[in-house]
Amino acid sequence: MGENAMHGSALPLFTQVAYLVAAGLFILSLKWLSAPTTARRGVIAGEVGMVLAIVGTLLLPQIKAFHWIILTMLIGSAIGIPIALLMPMTAVPQRTALSHSFGGLAVGAVGTAKYYLWLSQEPERLSYFTMGVLSFEVLLGFLTFTGSLMAFGKLQELIPTRPIVYKGQNVINLGLLAVAIGAGVWLTLDPSKSALFPLLIALSLLFGVLLIIPIGGADMPTVISLLNSYAGLSAAAMGFVLDNKLLIIAGALDGSSGFILSIIMCRAMNRSFTNVLFGAFGQVSAKALEAGEKRSVRSAMPEEAAQILETAQSVVIVPGYGMAVAQAQHKVRELYDALTRRGVDVKFAIHPVAGRMPGHMNVLLAEADIPYDRLYEMEDINSELAQTDVALIIGANDVTNPAARHDKSSPIYGMPIIDVDRARTVMVIKRSLGAGFAGIDNELYFMDKTLMLFGDAKAYVSEMVKELTSGGH
Ligand code: TAP
Repeated sequence: MGENAMHGSALPLFTQVAYLVAAGLFILSLKWLSAPTTARRGVIAGEVGMVLAIVGTLLLPQIKAFHWIILTMLIGSAIGIPIALLMPMTAVPQRTALSHSFGGLAVGAVGTAKYYLWLSQEPERLSYFTMGVLSFEVLLGFLTFTGSLMAFGKLQELIPTRPIVYKGQNVINLGLLAVAIGAGVWLTLDPSKSALFPLLIALSLLFGVLLIIPIGGADMPTVISLLNSYAGLSAAAMGFVLDNKLLIIAGALDGSSGFILSIIMCRAMNRSFTNVLFGAFGQVSAKALEAGEKRSVRSAMPEEAAQILETAQSVVIVPGYGMAVAQAQHKVRELYDALTRRGVDVKFAIHPVAGRMPGHMNVLLAEADIPYDRLYEMEDINSELAQTDVALIIGANDVTNPAARHDKSSPIYGMPIIDVDRARTVMVIKRSLGAGFAGIDNELYFMDKTLMLFGDAKAYVSEMVKELTSGGH
């Protein structure tokens, strides 16, 4: 550590200042990202912080030649920029998984390079402390690499999304982890046992795969934020290995925010952590649907739906995954404008896990410039729904399913929902009676006060807007 501290104080002044400002910007970025009104500022603060961190690092005297750095930056940008531009919003969870996977690989590779370099040239640097955190870094980095690749594969449906389970799975997984940790501890005590290092890498890679395959596609976004947390922790460990304080701070921020986000998501879905990690949520019943499809529902055409909306005094719109798939947010904005012009009070109810990633609905509605003060969190709007004339659900399903409140056998039992069934009239835009993410029937559709508005969200809302803005009205 003494030597490490010496390295730290030897940083050029510019780098020290750049790191300090970058650390402050990362903290502010997280704070600003937590509210829609300041989120854009949060993104910019994070980006500026990252540029400062990179420039500060590139100016370190240890860096003698830039050609490899420039080449790899060009290759990385050539891959990263098209991914960012071409990937649709609905694919952001898997894109995030892919970024974590690359982050994990980078951390693991740096740890490996440092181990072999120091072992051959400066073995005295592999102190108990350094070797301990280096083993931790390599374990977490490589398991994040393969774990995130599996999460990507499941979300992109390149591999089966259902949980892959077999007998004794938890024992095998925990046994494997124990052996990997054992190898890390041994290396810490005796870094010269270099044959153990490839074993540690191989077990970490394998553990990442085995950790994710028993988890169903439905839990993947939670798993991704957990892997985000692992990636952050491994980066913080790398910060200790390289004696880079900024990496320690940024890794710790990443690790803790990912962990907190996983907890928030688990709560919003009423899932326990252990349940997510060892459960099989994706497997739920298709049989409920078969029973449901035989029952009858009331449906309406866009003209009729538009008439009901314009005679209402209050409308609460509940957007969900289907609005994202249909990219209907701009048409929804037009609907909001048309109704507001007619004096209808229109609010948006945002469920914390509507869509496929945290904040999914906020991002889409912000993109369509829907005023932030019209967006209400679930707990703030629920008490108002009983006095609401129309609850208009656009492509949402699970987050409105009343079974979550009373059906103990339902896989979503206990998940807080938006109480749309308490509104005077319920209207649901979706293409069929088909299930949402949890794969279960929604009794809401069979209630007397519910009108099903069958169609693609964008096309259906367009028709309603046309109706509301045409000369006749
Ligand atoms: P879902 O329950 O997934 O339902 C979406 C509905 O949208 C589907 O039933 C589908 O019905 C409809 N739809 C699809 N394409 C459409 C289109 N083009 N036009 C109109 N409707 C369309 O969505 P939700 O209510 O937003 O709930 C989110 C689910 O994801 C929850 O189960 C939640 O736990 C889970 N989840 C979310 C997150 C985060 S962080 N957001 C993380 C993990 C899991 P049709 O096929 O009949 O059209």
